[in-house]
Amino acid sequence: MQARLNLLAPEVRANPFPFYAELRRRAPVCQIDPGGRWAITRYEDVMYVLKNPKLFSSGAIRKSTQPAWLGRHNPFSESMFVMDPPEHGRLRNLVSRAFTPGVISRLEERIRAFARELVTALPVERSVNFVEVFAQLLPARTIGELLGLDASLHSRFKDWSDDIVSIGSISPEDTARHAEVRANIAEMEQHLESVLAQRRANPGQDLMSELLRVRVDGEALTHRELMAFFFMLLVGGLETTVHVLGHSARMLMERPEHMERLQADRSLIPRFVEEMLRYEPPLHGAVRLTTAEVELAGVRLPPGEVIFAVLASACRDEAYCPDGERFDMNRSGQQNLAFGHGAHFCLGAALARLQVRVGLEELLAHCRRLTPGEGPIEWNASMIARGPTRLPVVLHRT
Ligand code: HEM
Repeated sequence: MQARLNLLAPEVRANPFPFYAELRRRAPVCQIDPGGRWAITRYEDVMYVLKNPKLFSSGAIRKSTQPAWLGRHNPFSESMFVMDPPEHGRLRNLVSRAFTPGVISRLEERIRAFARELVTALPVERSVNFVEVFAQLLPARTIGELLGLDASLHSRFKDWSDDIVSIGSISPEDTARHAEVRANIAEMEQHLESVLAQRRANPGQDLMSELLRVRVDGEALTHRELMAFFFMLLVGGLETTVHVLGHSARMLMERPEHMERLQADRSLIPRFVEEMLRYEPPLHGAVRLTTAEVELAGVRLPPGEVIFAVLASACRDEAYCPDGERFDMNRSGQQNLAFGHGAHFCLGAALARLQVRVGLEELLAHCRRLTPGEGPIEWNASMIARGPTRLPVVLHRT
């Protein structure tokens, strides 16, 4: 491979996996575009990066999410997502106490009701964009429910979260976009603050009330920490699950044998979800910053270099998963690397699995087959997350 791989080139967006395989073989640590960050593509090296926060700091995206033009504080850039141990551990410990299996499992019936309502409204026998009519709505409603946000604002969540993730790629000259982003962050903060005030006055069984209650050694979360956590949950919950639902629908449409198998035995859905996450993880990589000179696969990197530990490549590496380029629902055993590894292992993994399982159960109960709809599949343009923004499908009842 001569030229640098450009992650945003259309042919790479459409299918990055052959490019990752080539990097694993020929250049497992190399610079990629846009931006020149270092892609780490082999399983062993990705794990080394994730297990060594002292050498590879999560603070890499703190600067890009808090540019000077923003002119205001961005709660996301103070979240634990961008922190390293021991600072990270204190916060993680506090919020994990509220993010319990009990809080998550109480959501199942609500998620099922949302999913059922959405699939019942889906038109059959005509082309629809699956992302617009289902995949992005289910996570938005779930996060809204989890945080106790106003249902009338659900359609705004995605705009808020899209703005937060796009901050790093907005040009310093684009003043119109700057104003838009500032207004959206302010709107989001204002809304979260009003819900928080209600919960302080009237605590319930929801996540916000739990977060207000938690104490470790008598210490509670500060207001700023709570705000940072909510921003992170909104982004973490919206920018990922949508893509797993989209990838799953595409797989069931393009490989009808899997649809037939799941229709014959719905208890296989959790296995399908696990393999889908490995095969098409929605977050393609984790971003880190080298804190000292390090050597990876024979390449020396100075301190201050931005690293992209490519989870989506590691998930298909033979060293992690034999015959990794093949989708195979019969696999079992490994921890799912799609959710990362180590200190920052995804806090929302159980919630994500629950949503995708319930979403697919309801979808399959409503439609027997999915076939391609009109027009091409279109892909999002993020460096980190990958999924379709347009997935034309036709749903069939029989
Ligand atoms: C299938 C869907 C999801 C996938 C594949 C996923 C993947 C990941 C990955 C790879 C990380 C680690 C990033 C790193 O090491 O830099 C992470 C962190 C995180 N995720 Fe998820 N995520 C998903 C859904 C969710 C949901 C639904 C939520 C919450 C509503 C969530 C909340 C978080 C949080 C809070 C962190 C930061 C944890 C920390 O810094 O300690 N995620 N996720």
